[in-house]
Order: sequence, then C-alpha cells, then structure tokens
Amino acid sequence: MQPTVAPLNATLGAKITNIDLGNMDDAAWKVVEDAFHEHAALVFSGQNLDADTQVGFAKRFGNLETLNPDGKPTAVAITNKKDDGSVLKSDDFRYKTLRGNEGWHTDSSYMPLAAKASILYAQVVPPEGGETEVADMRAAYKELSQDMKDKISNLEAYHSLYQSQAKIGYEIKTGSAYGYHTKGAPRRPLVKVHPVTGRKSLFVGRHAYEIVGMDKEEGQKLLDELVNFACQEPRTYSHKWEAGDVLMWDNRCVLHRAMPYDYNEVRILRHTRVAGDPNSELVPTGRDDRASDFIASSSNFNDYYESSPKSLSEST
Ligand SMILES: [Fe+2]
Repeated sequence: MQPTVAPLNATLGAKITNIDLGNMDDAAWKVVEDAFHEHAALVFSGQNLDADTQVGFAKRFGNLETLNPDGKPTAVAITNKKDDGSVLKSDDFRYKTLRGNEGWHTDSSYMPLAAKASILYAQVVPPEGGETEVADMRAAYKELSQDMKDKISNLEAYHSLYQSQAKIGYEIKTGSAYGYHTKGAPRRPLVKVHPVTGRKSLFVGRHAYEIVGMDKEEGQKLLDELVNFACQEPRTYSHKWEAGDVLMWDNRCVLHRAMPYDYNEVRILRHTRVAGDPNSELVPTGRDDRASDFIASSSNFNDYYESSPKSLSEST
C-alpha cells in the first residue's frame, strides 16, 4: 500500500490517504515524516486507533510529554464529558481549559521544553462546531514587511499558561494542573528557526505575554498584532472532524485553536504530545509573577502538583 499525499487548500497541511497509522512499513513512515516536515500539518481519515496504537504512532516522532499526573507518557482525552457521563459546566476547572484552547496557541510553549508535535484522534464529535484550526507560521513570517522582520528579529517573549488564562478571566493557582508550575516563564525568540528544515517562522500565540525589554502593554499589543496578521487565509486550515480522523501538526511552526461548540453535545478527542528536542525547544525561564514561586528548572517533569492533582486531560 503506497500512501498518497495531497496538499490542502492552504499554505500548510496535506491529507494522506491509503495508509493505516497503526500498521506502517518503513516506506510509509518515511512518506509521513517527510510530509510532516514539508506541510507542517497532516490529516488522515478512517483510522481505527486504540490508545496504545496512537502512542506507538506518536513515539515515532520522539519522546512523549508526560501530561498525566502519574508521570506516564500516555494519551489523554480532550473532552467536555466528565467521568460521571455529564458534560462540563462553566465553573468546572476543565471548562476553563477548553475555553482557553479556543485562542491561537502552540502547545507547551509555557514549559521549559516546548512541544514538537501534537496528535489528535477523533472518537466522538459534535454535529456542529468544534473544528480544530491550524495556522502556518512559516508563511506568516515570510509575509511580514521587512520593517517588521527587522523589528522582531532579536525580540524574545515570555510564555505562561497562568498569563494566557488570566487574559480570558481565569486566575489559576500553582499546582492546579499541568502547566501551572514554579519553573518560571520560558523566554522564547519571536522568530524560530526550524531545527530540521531551517525555515524561519513566527513563534507567538496566546501563551506569549511579555516582550523582554519592552513596555508590557506595548509588548502585548505587538504580540496580538502578529497573531492577528498571521492567522488569516490562506495560511489557515479548519478541520471539520469526523470520528476516525487524525489531525497532527508541528508546534514549532504552527499555531492551532479549537472552535466553540454546543457543550450539551459530547466531543472526545484523544491527544498525544511529542516533546521537543532540548537542543532546539529548551529555553531559560524567568520569574512568572502569577506563579506562587520561582524555582528555575530545565525539566518539564511532574513536580508541579501540590496536592490532589486534577486530570490533565485539558492541558493546552
Ligand atoms: Fe493545544
């Protein structure tokens, strides 16, 4: 079976058909890996993945991030369905995380080691809404004016999940879930060079909140301006889910967001997150004034739960 790669109608993304992600030979895997680097986002449909198979597929790209409180690198559910079968209400903790996911972001930019790739597998989807959208930060960078390229070429921004949640009205305490840690806010360049392709991309999104050496408001204004410019057609693709679909993207050069849907309808996506390479995705951190403390660390590992850890299913 020879996979077929068809680019989507955007500057990023391709759909790969004629492939079973749970049963690939080396040649098929090479097609997937090459397409991932070239197109930055990939769509597959009609897959039938159990959790272990999804984890096995994800591990082809690298080590998994340990999103679960038990520290095991497994898949997690991104869902509005609670364990008792009911759906989240607006005062539920995980509701706030799902709402946060509706802002353009890149996964784990608020951790010392940012993510390489994110993989979503649709198990239950609502009849309307709930799309996942991706935006091409390579093309966005390329389309910036030369003045803007010059302006941002040496700028860095701090990233924080506390801060991005605070921007939408949620004040979250240290230790509440993955991402609410005392390791400090990572300081990341606004222009990222892709470690494999060498291409430059904009590295921004909702978790970026302060530009080093710039007035706070001015910095946030510039960050917002960049995201608003970047996340426009033809640099965006909106994925309308069907059960059995897989969507994955390269967090090093793609922003993504969830679209709203009626929370009376259940949506269950299974998520695996591939960790970045410390050589290219690990950065120093600085004090985050919304965290309870600052204990600089270069590890993402699970020492961030103070007590009764919440399910991590909804980390953004
Ligand atoms: Fe996300």
